[in-house]
Amino acid sequence: MLELIELPEPQPGPGEVLVEVLASPISPMDRLAMRGLYPLELAEGVGGAQGVGIVVELGEGVGELEAGTVVLLPVRVGAWRERLAVSASAVVPLSPHRDPVAACTLRIEALTAAVLLTRLEPGESFVHSPGAGSVGRYLTILARERGLRSIALVGSREPIADLWGLGADNVLVREPGLASRLRALGLPQPRLGFDGSGGATSGLLGSCLQPGGELVVYGATSRQPVELPVSQLVFRDIRVRGFWLHRWARAVGPAQLRSELEALAAMDLQEQVVGRFTLDQWPAALELAERAGARGRVVFTPATSQRPAPA
Ligand SMILES: NC(=O)c1ccc[n+]([C@@H]2O[C@H](COP(=O)([O-])OP(=O)(O)OC[C@H]3O[C@@H](n4cnc5c(N)ncnc54)[C@H](OP(=O)(O)O)[C@@H]3O)[C@@H](O)[C@H]2O)c1
Repeated sequence: MLELIELPEPQPGPGEVLVEVLASPISPMDRLAMRGLYPLELAEGVGGAQGVGIVVELGEGVGELEAGTVVLLPVRVGAWRERLAVSASAVVPLSPHRDPVAACTLRIEALTAAVLLTRLEPGESFVHSPGAGSVGRYLTILARERGLRSIALVGSREPIADLWGLGADNVLVREPGLASRLRALGLPQPRLGFDGSGGATSGLLGSCLQPGGELVVYGATSRQPVELPVSQLVFRDIRVRGFWLHRWARAVGPAQLRSELEALAAMDLQEQVVGRFTLDQWPAALELAERAGARGRVVFTPATSQRPAPA
């Protein structure tokens, strides 16, 4: 059950900062967690797996941050609230000129895309779906930055122009015969595919890969199991593996995590936002986030009215 409640005013302990939350999206992780389908708990049962805030008070012993710094919050702190105390070493500063709403998915979706792309060699191509999802858009943008060639698969024609604008090399509607269409376009068969869709799209992605290619499954917006024809596994030797950002972060440790986030924070990456809501508007916000076809993130802006103007 969801409800808006008053919590005690948080106080920053030693090594912590008090942060006012400027923006926190409703991410797929939140939607899964609310249904009890995510394997990790949210902090104190509060939604908001990620967000951006402004430091308003320093706890004892915090020297490296100052009040007024806009920061990326650590993951799963429960950012759907006005203020919270977090470890100073776990926040990543952002430029004060960044729109906190547009930057609110750097911690999960942009980082996921950035890490997935590290599996590719310069100049290599890859195929992915859902091309117009948040991770998909970041895959397109970061691929262009890194000199990689993207093939984005989308469910309808609607987001195609937008993806071209972001620098996609190829955008194709998911439909049978896709592998032949790629051949007809003279595109090489990619070695890697990134699957955030699940269901029949997994098979479509697999069919586009070269023999021995790898399908990296990172999500399932269709909420369906991966459907991969046996012929792809047996005759074409397509391999399938999963990717979870949480597992990656634990494997690489805090120093590399921080350096990847700092690199993303230094770029002008912008989330597509479909609606901004205050916390008391949560029923309308969730309804919009759940609506199939809503293109972009729904974002809570708990402290919008209290934010000082950037210097
Ligand atoms: N493994 C990890 O560490 C990790 C990290 C981040 C995200 N994820 C997962 O990866 C998947 C994609 O994440 P994302 O942030 O890119 O997702 P997203 O932004 O919510 O993706 C939106 C896209 O999903 C498709 N879609 C299909 N059915 C939908 C529905 N009922 N409602 C909304 N969209 C629907 C649509 O594309 P089409 O019309 O083209 O189908 C839409 O453009 C999610 O399952 C998420 O949980 C995993």
